[in-house]
Amino acid sequence: MTGSTGQIGSRVARLISTRGVPQRLLIREPTRLQEYDGATVVAVPGGYADVDGMRAALDGIDTLFLVSANAGPERVAEHASAIGAARAAGVSHVVYLSFLGASAIATFSYARDHWATEQQVRASGMAFTFLRDSFYHPLLPSMAGPDGVIRGPAENGRIVTVSPGDVAEVAAVIALDPEPHNGVTYELTGPAPFTLEDAADVLAVASGRPIRYERETLAEAYASRAQYDAPRAVLDAWVTTYTAIAAGELDVVSTEVEAITGHRAETLENWLRRHPESYRHLLLD
Ligand SMILES: NC(=O)c1ccc[n+]([C@@H]2O[C@H](COP(=O)([O-])OP(=O)(O)OC[C@H]3O[C@@H](n4cnc5c(N)ncnc54)[C@H](OP(=O)(O)O)[C@@H]3O)[C@@H](O)[C@H]2O)c1
Repeated sequence: MTGSTGQIGSRVARLISTRGVPQRLLIREPTRLQEYDGATVVAVPGGYADVDGMRAALDGIDTLFLVSANAGPERVAEHASAIGAARAAGVSHVVYLSFLGASAIATFSYARDHWATEQQVRASGMAFTFLRDSFYHPLLPSMAGPDGVIRGPAENGRIVTVSPGDVAEVAAVIALDPEPHNGVTYELTGPAPFTLEDAADVLAVASGRPIRYERETLAEAYASRAQYDAPRAVLDAWVTTYTAIAAGELDVVSTEVEAITGHRAETLENWLRRHPESYRHLLLD
């Protein structure tokens, strides 16, 4: 599996390790990895773009859990390189961490990258399972600035964020026994939709201070984010996160987490209770 130094991958690696199943972790910087019982670490410093390094690291592997690369202009090409390496190494099944509503015409710009990658996996001829997860619960506290305001052009649209732990559990179940999930695309969401106004209320209860949602026009959204001096593609991703909510493309409640893990998907409220560090920037002295 890849991505085990990250939020989702580290949880998947831990779950597989506690099941006592051997796994091979492909990572760019081995010094950053915690130890997992039964895991072999293989360094691929060049990451997905290093097709020879990836192919050698995947030698003898049947199932690959492929975490999507950091966003950037090379992301789709990096995924193509990793998929080509997996195929050349003889991998039979790829479990790809995609995104909810992946489509060539998705409003959220990065969802188009995920769609392109899904097409590459399909074209490779390998068996596959796509995990189209929604935004993770921690996105919501991060949307609120220290002034306690969530700003964006989301109108009154709804979103159904999901617990990273639930996504990891689903990924581990499938990675450990992929065959029943061959050719299946799963949408992974939390249990309940909410508007950003609702989310502000939930954050206000958690943090004990007023939090509110302020609607922006598209032009206001780009203007208020200009101070970060981010590349245009990053700005587009930030802004289309909100316009995708406005368009209703993230207003999806799926029951797949419960069907696969056997327990209900974790609510945002519960996740915040367990992760007060996620809204530390909102706490008043
Ligand atoms: N944030 C959300 O709400 C959300 C929702 C749905 C899907 N996703 C997608 O899910 C993915 C994983 O999420 P996450 O929260 O686990 O991300 P994360 O914590 O940033 O971890 C990303 C992992 O992927 C590895 N990686 C990134 N680019 C790579 C490359 N080019 N070659 C090799 N390894 C690479 C990183 O390795 P290093 O440690 O070496 O950097 C890290 O282990 C994200 O890429 C995102 O597209 C995110």
